[in-house]
Amino acid sequence: MYFIANWKMFGGLKSLNSLGKVANFFQNFRRNKNLKIIYCPPTTLINSMSKKLKKSKIEVGAQNCHESEVYGAHTGSINPRMLKDAGASYVIIGHSENRQRGEKNKLINQKIKTAIKSGLKIIFCIGETLSEKRKKKTKKILDEQIRYGLNKIQNKNKIIIAYEPIWSIGSGLIPKPEDLFKTIDFIKKKAKNYKVLYGGSVNPKNILKLRDIKNIDGYLIGGASQDPKKFIDIIKKTYN
Ligand code: PGA
Repeated sequence: MYFIANWKMFGGLKSLNSLGKVANFFQNFRRNKNLKIIYCPPTTLINSMSKKLKKSKIEVGAQNCHESEVYGAHTGSINPRMLKDAGASYVIIGHSENRQRGEKNKLINQKIKTAIKSGLKIIFCIGETLSEKRKKKTKKILDEQIRYGLNKIQNKNKIIIAYEPIWSIGSGLIPKPEDLFKTIDFIKKKAKNYKVLYGGSVNPKNILKLRDIKNIDGYLIGGASQDPKKFIDIIKKTYN
């Protein structure tokens, strides 16, 4: 099971003090368990975080990247090689908060290809809006995001898909368990042999429902991942 912490645009150097707790927990807990923890902090913290977590088996990822693999005149951008150099081994691509700012499937596909070439693994986000859900377009949207996003990509083992319905991100709402099972199943049929995670308002309470959905391979956790206690609680409850 994957537990991916997406800190979004939160956190400074002081926030790294909370990691010791999670690293200790992980060291004791992960034995005999197929457990992976990946922290995706803001870019400013990747280097110090990866140094801090070096001894633990917790990995570090970025939250986005530029689509070019070489240096260039792109003010404010960072390419995947630079992220790797800073200590990242993963990158989130296609998060809805970036799709809403104009990132389209084609660009996302380019970013995935470049990031793989640069030696990173990908957390590829897909999901429908509330209005698409109401219009019963969820499958159509997911199918497009998967088809275009993963177009001509061979290295399946380098990509994890995260299904994040946009209406459930930060809202406290999660899909009905039977709907979620069906959607994950649909994604796994469209994107064969990929791990599929769920993301959107995962917390220590609703994990008790989510953990019973047997085709989910892990969680992408935003808000609750900034609090080490909640994050650890979610992991523990998944296995108990
Ligand atoms: P949330 O965010 O857990 O705060 O809803 C999830 C995400 O956007 O990855």
